[in-house]
Amino acid sequence: MPLFTNTTRLGDNVIMLRYIRRKIRDRLFKLVEQVLNGEKEAFLEERMTYLLHEVSETRQHLRMLLGESPRFQAWTAQTRASFDTQWHILPEGDHLATDPSFLQRGSKLVEEYTQLPASWFKGKTLLDAGCGNGRWAYVFCRLGAKVTAVDQSDHGIENVRRLCSEFPDFRAQAANLLEPLALTTSFDFVWSFGVLHHTGDTRRSFDNVQKMVKPGGKLLLMIYGEPERQGEFDEINTYVKHRRATSAMTFPEKVEYLRDLYPTELVHGYFDAISPAINDLHRFDEIREWLVSSGFGDVKRTFDNRNLIIMAIRKSSPISRRVTHDLHADRPTSN
Ligand SMILES: C[S@@+](CC[C@H](N)C(=O)[O-])C[C@H]1O[C@@H](n2cnc3c(N)ncnc32)[C@H](O)[C@@H]1O
Repeated sequence: MPLFTNTTRLGDNVIMLRYIRRKIRDRLFKLVEQVLNGEKEAFLEERMTYLLHEVSETRQHLRMLLGESPRFQAWTAQTRASFDTQWHILPEGDHLATDPSFLQRGSKLVEEYTQLPASWFKGKTLLDAGCGNGRWAYVFCRLGAKVTAVDQSDHGIENVRRLCSEFPDFRAQAANLLEPLALTTSFDFVWSFGVLHHTGDTRRSFDNVQKMVKPGGKLLLMIYGEPERQGEFDEINTYVKHRRATSAMTFPEKVEYLRDLYPTELVHGYFDAISPAINDLHRFDEIREWLVSSGFGDVKRTFDNRNLIIMAIRKSSPISRRVTHDLHADRPTSN
């Protein structure tokens, strides 16, 4: 729901604006403190650059104020188009389904991230929420899971259908995670890897995804994390530098720009990191609170990385959700 609608009362708006102003102020104070309190000489320049970027990135918080405004729509439309282009003209690269070494390591990575043995997935129903090109969907199909994959990118859906066509239990459907998912079944396992922070409303898309986990079922999220350690600040600074350098370019021009800078196999990864307009960063405590308040327990970070790789188990039933369509019961003819 947009924050401000015609039916929102003036008093509600003022309270909300004060809340947001406080949040932004607290966050900036925290960042300034981090920069000032760190060891004097230790990567100070890096931390200062990060702070400057963060100040300007406060607009991410302001996005909340925009609700369903034309500006918000423009950001989400650019992000949608960027991913769709990515899966169309750059389907190959390191760590993708076209990378044989990724496919070889896939099940080991799943074991590391989920802390479950690969054999656990056999026969389980699994939702890949934001499947992209389908590299994880394919790995889970090979592990014997009954996979349903959704994404808002038509080219992504086309590619994942082709990739997983040999698996009879595989389903795919275009879906916008900012809307409740049109699936009647809930799942033993929901996997959403590198997706929610690109939606423009991480919390809203989180809500739609978490509701798809059945009681006792498991959820794995990979969500962009804020930098904390040396090197992590610099990584973000590099992305911001490229984002600014390419902000007025078309998608094919961005690809050319990256080809001049990086080896072919890294171009996809850099395009993914710098081209979408929406790339929000989050903290573990923030996501943990969302999970616990949604009825999840055993919430833990399972992998040491700047990005938050989080596993959780649903303890209680999700709140009621709108249900309109059962993908497994009604197999798309084009699949
Ligand atoms: C970085 S890619 C990750 C793809 C895949 N999970 C993987 O790990 O290879 C992010 C994906 O999120 C999808 N996405 C972003 N916003 C979305 C939304 N609102 N609804 C559905 N999918 C979305 C994009 O289309 C894109 O395929």
